[in-house]
Amino acid sequence: MTPVRHVRDTGTHAYLMKFMIRLRNAPVSSDRAKVANVSLWNRHLTLFTAVEGFPKLAATNRKDMTDYYKKMKRIAIYPGSFDPVTNGHIDILERGLKLFDKIIVAILLNPGKDPLFTVEERIHMLKISLKKIHNIEIDTFSGLLVDYAAKKKSHAILRGMRAVSDFEYEFQLALMNRRLNREIQTVFLMTGLRWIFTSSSIIKEAARFGGNINGMVPPIVNHKLKEKFGFISNSK
Ligand code: PNS
Repeated sequence: MTPVRHVRDTGTHAYLMKFMIRLRNAPVSSDRAKVANVSLWNRHLTLFTAVEGFPKLAATNRKDMTDYYKKMKRIAIYPGSFDPVTNGHIDILERGLKLFDKIIVAILLNPGKDPLFTVEERIHMLKISLKKIHNIEIDTFSGLLVDYAAKKKSHAILRGMRAVSDFEYEFQLALMNRRLNREIQTVFLMTGLRWIFTSSSIIKEAARFGGNINGMVPPIVNHKLKEKFGFISNSK
């Protein structure tokens, strides 16, 4: 059966599941009602099995289906350049983990941009900075973000919102992503007040001229920035 497009959004999943549980628990008084229930059950099961990644289950195995649904993880993609990661990023990630079971920190591989740090350096700094945080994965992606999110079976893109100045760009990005894939939602989280003015670009600017950026970035990033701008010698 060709996958039914609207069935893949989580709202519809929840609706179907609730309906199926109600159906399962409904008292069945006559044979006719039993037949009607089974046929409705099978119709909903067909819709469910049309969902990408949902294992084909026998119509009788309703418990497995309920368990599968309960265990389904809420995964968000937290995309960005992370050139380099700042304490503001970490703040958003920690807030996001209160809403999602797992967050994939996804670094964009963008040949158009001219980053200060190589992808390997950025991954290294992220790994060290996030080593105490559980339920995260660090990955890279190229191409469209929504395609990457769908590949990772995620329905959410997580973005941090600082001041009003972020709004216009974030709004455009979210609307374009929605146009490209309506099943993926963008979730904005407000950064903590102390990180309102923290951005990778402003931190790089300050670090370039020897400004004090203690407390704005993880220690490893502070160290790597000093190395990059020649204030200390390369540790390698
Ligand atoms: O940290 P940044 O640089 O603000 O992150 C921007 C990012 C990576 C989220 C954005 O550039 C992105 O998603 N790029 C991938 C290409 C894409 O899907 N663009 C949006 C629709 S055109």
